[in-house]
Amino acid sequence: MEKQSVNRVVLIGTGAVGCSYAYSCINQGVAEELVLIDVNEKRAEGEAMDLNHGIPFAPSPVNVWSGTYADCDKADLVVITAGVAQKPGETRLDLLAKNAAIFKDIIRSVMDSGFDGIFLIATNPVDILTYVTWKESGLPAERVIGSGTTLDSARFRYLLGQYFHVDPRNVHAAIIGEHGDTELPVWSRTNIGLDSIDSLLARNKDYNQKDLDEIFVNVRDAAYHVIERKGATYYGIGMSLVRITNAILRNENSILPVSVYLDGHYGHSDVFIGAPAIINRSGIREVMEIELNRVEKDQFDHSVKMLRETMTSIV
Ligand code: LAC
Repeated sequence: MEKQSVNRVVLIGTGAVGCSYAYSCINQGVAEELVLIDVNEKRAEGEAMDLNHGIPFAPSPVNVWSGTYADCDKADLVVITAGVAQKPGETRLDLLAKNAAIFKDIIRSVMDSGFDGIFLIATNPVDILTYVTWKESGLPAERVIGSGTTLDSARFRYLLGQYFHVDPRNVHAAIIGEHGDTELPVWSRTNIGLDSIDSLLARNKDYNQKDLDEIFVNVRDAAYHVIERKGATYYGIGMSLVRITNAILRNENSILPVSVYLDGHYGHSDVFIGAPAIINRSGIREVMEIELNRVEKDQFDHSVKMLRETMTSIV
């Protein structure tokens, strides 16, 4: 891939998640080129036309077009949102068989273009499909990233901000593990501003662990609650994907809980799962092996075990 002077992002999947991502990219001036690919070519063309009509109001010019896999050759980042989404009552893991089959064709088509950039995966079950992308692409693990628990952590920070009446940007907290039912809160590393949760609870009896535990349950089950009301989730994940995109394209060295390859980290290998990582232009600079307490480590191990057991059905 000959390096261009402009950032090109290729989006594969122009459904609600993909278009929320594309719309957020344009409004945040994320890249100079945005290519939309979808199995429904007419849909991709219509989305590109509609997005282009807003460009005069964008913070910076973006060249948006509906393209083909050949456009991946010069892409810095290929974002994949294509696949079937959860229906009411379905878990993310229920989508695995259908989406894994779709993915193998997509990854092959991207790699046949000569793509040598970074993959960012959002399709569920995202941890396993990120693993599939890594296996099928042959790219180094640091250049295959899943959205992981970035959205879950944003939900967590939002609800904690509401509870403590502070700006969620001052809530330092993370959900790690599977992006799904076995995810876990890292309470032992959660701070509100410079205050630990423990010191806040000790100082102010208005706050209690029971409320906090309820907050976590609402985070873990958030997608189900949104899906039962509006049929799907897409704005939160779209903005989460833009956050990760900015960390990559702007070479930020930001720390985000994305789905990363564990190579001995936390005592596990050969699995992709949500864990804090330093992200920059090269992809994953470092997987951060934070200290977990006994409960958190047991929950994390359970999450890894569950993902492994589910993976055996397709890899
Ligand atoms: C959700 C989807 C992205 O959690 O899994 O909303």
